[in-house]
Amino acid sequence: MSSQPQAHILFSREEIETMVKRLAAEIKKDYQGKHPLLLGILKGSFMFMADLIRFLDFPLEIEFIRLSSYGRGRSTSGKIKVVQGLRSSIKDRDVLVIEDIVDTGLTISFLLDYLQKKKPASLKLCALTDKHSRRQIPVTIDYLGFTVPNKFIVGYGLDWDEKFRNLPDICVLEGEG
Ligand code: PRP
Repeated sequence: MSSQPQAHILFSREEIETMVKRLAAEIKKDYQGKHPLLLGILKGSFMFMADLIRFLDFPLEIEFIRLSSYGRGRSTSGKIKVVQGLRSSIKDRDVLVIEDIVDTGLTISFLLDYLQKKKPASLKLCALTDKHSRRQIPVTIDYLGFTVPNKFIVGYGLDWDEKFRNLPDICVLEGEG
């Protein structure tokens, strides 16, 4: 019997593409003419961000911020720090944060609070997935893709111990523990 964790498809690359297009259409409707700044949270959001902006055919800018929770493994520790910060001002900008997953909500709550202090014109959140059953802090997700079960999710940017980010589908990892 193999001890390697197995990844089973939860949302296929085709389902993801359909969802990304749907989210892009919603975002386009709200932001066209506003020249928004899309702010991706590294590392998990890199693939979603890259695909999403291909469907946003109007002027925008992108930026990344890298956050880290202490420790590695299955879940966040609750202590968030900014590893790589913003390189330009977001004051008076329409900022749309791009996240791969909202789990406990600790990471995004920390970030939204951090960004709000920098006085953007508006601040919204787009998350591809939501593990709502694990929430510890209420979070408003303005543009939401998939609600996912309370299982370990990998692929399409999401990792387990830095592995599986390159899977093109969103998968459930089984046998990892
Ligand atoms: C993951 C994910 C979110 C966060 C969600 O990031 O990308 O940012 O956890 O968890 P929470 O809602 O419980 O805070 P992680 O810290 O694993 O870093 P990564 O993006 O580099 O994988």
